[in-house]
Amino acid sequence: MTKHIEFTINGEDRSADVPPHITLLRFIRESMGLTGTKEGCGNGECGACTVIMDGEPVRSCLVLAAEINGKEILTIEGLAKDGKLHPIQQAFIDAGAVQCGFCTPGFIMAVYAFLLRHPEPSKEQAAEALKGHLCRCTGYESIFNAVGMIVDNARKMEVA
Ligand code: FES
Ligand code: FES
Repeated sequence: MTKHIEFTINGEDRSADVPPHITLLRFIRESMGLTGTKEGCGNGECGACTVIMDGEPVRSCLVLAAEINGKEILTIEGLAKDGKLHPIQQAFIDAGAVQCGFCTPGFIMAVYAFLLRHPEPSKEQAAEALKGHLCRCTGYESIFNAVGMIVDNARKMEVA
């Protein structure tokens, strides 16, 4: 048995018939071919699989694909525009905050969602928003340096 879903992903209207038990994470990676979203723990604890659903960050390993009917999904692939990285992506590169890179899409999507809600944040608020995101390379210092650069530039940054 499958469920018919209609949704928008990275600005594109799409539809699909999905089995009821398939997670959004698997659907994004295997059916949509968007492998930028990573599977870390697979049970909601690491944040690697974070995507944006209707403006809110969600751990896609905990959401069923069937739940995205009528929703707007944004993945890491939807951030760059006209061949130019999103300023959040650029800040991670400039700060050397990408080691193996496995956790990076989740961190970036979480920062993106945070800035949607807090256009002029403090560094403390930004750090709070990233609680629960794990980096197995333990590159937290450079990640928080990137976040500091993003916070410093937040007023100039067009997030969405
Ligand atoms: S893979 Fe989803 S939270 Fe870790
Ligand atoms: S950069 Fe390797 S897990 Fe974070």
